[in-house]
Amino acid sequence: MDYKVKNMRICIEKDYSEMSKKAAEVFACVMKETPSGVFGFATGGTPVGLYKELIDMNKNNTLDFSEATTFNLDEYFPIKASNNQSYRYFMEENLFNHINIKKEKINIPNGEADDINEECKSYENRITQSGGIDLQILGIGMNGHIGFNEPTDHFPKDTHGVELQQSTIEANARFFDSIDEVPKTAVTMGIKSIMSAKSILLVVNGAKKAGIVKEMLFGNITPQVPASILQLHPNVVVILDEEAAEQIKELL
Ligand code: GLP
Repeated sequence: MDYKVKNMRICIEKDYSEMSKKAAEVFACVMKETPSGVFGFATGGTPVGLYKELIDMNKNNTLDFSEATTFNLDEYFPIKASNNQSYRYFMEENLFNHINIKKEKINIPNGEADDINEECKSYENRITQSGGIDLQILGIGMNGHIGFNEPTDHFPKDTHGVELQQSTIEANARFFDSIDEVPKTAVTMGIKSIMSAKSILLVVNGAKKAGIVKEMLFGNITPQVPASILQLHPNVVVILDEEAAEQIKELL
């Protein structure tokens, strides 16, 4: 079912699998219109099903990544690319190694850079020089973060270094052997970098995100819920499964 909230198109799908299929359809539609476009990718458990769909489309020759440029939202810092918990490793395993993307067109913040501030500046410049992101995929953190833009008292603009909040460290500990191994800092695109994307595709599943989905869509626009800024973007598609949509159904 499709709804409209402010400028945002909200699609509610039966379950995770349908959410992933719908998101892949939206992605493919943009990529077919702009095959040499710039695509922003996200990590986390949520987009894995979407990436599987994109891999299938690429294998069936219905989606071609050969001309595309990509930028990932964020990366832990410091972390070696070869570490199986780096976001580079995640993207290679879950998408890039299985599609016909050109390696030199993949951009992910460098977790091994000598100077975090220089890396942030150079990453932001690369996004600008590419002409900007045509479609940015997003997930949402339990505390409303997008990328690693954590709740705070202002909306950070450009790509920057960030201290992860304890709740994010705890949420991400499921991917590590122990919570002590979760990096405490990261590099992330800023809110301006994300909001500058021409279109945004946000995927959310599961009952545990139902509360933050309601706050993001219907609450105040505040840096305490970073994703709430999406209410101001002119071209956002939010794809939810039934569980994530649980608390907004009566408001639609
Ligand atoms: C991480 C990433 C976010 C992601 C979030 C949610 O912190 N930096 O980009 O959206 O986790 O992850 P999940 O989809 O696993 O809930």
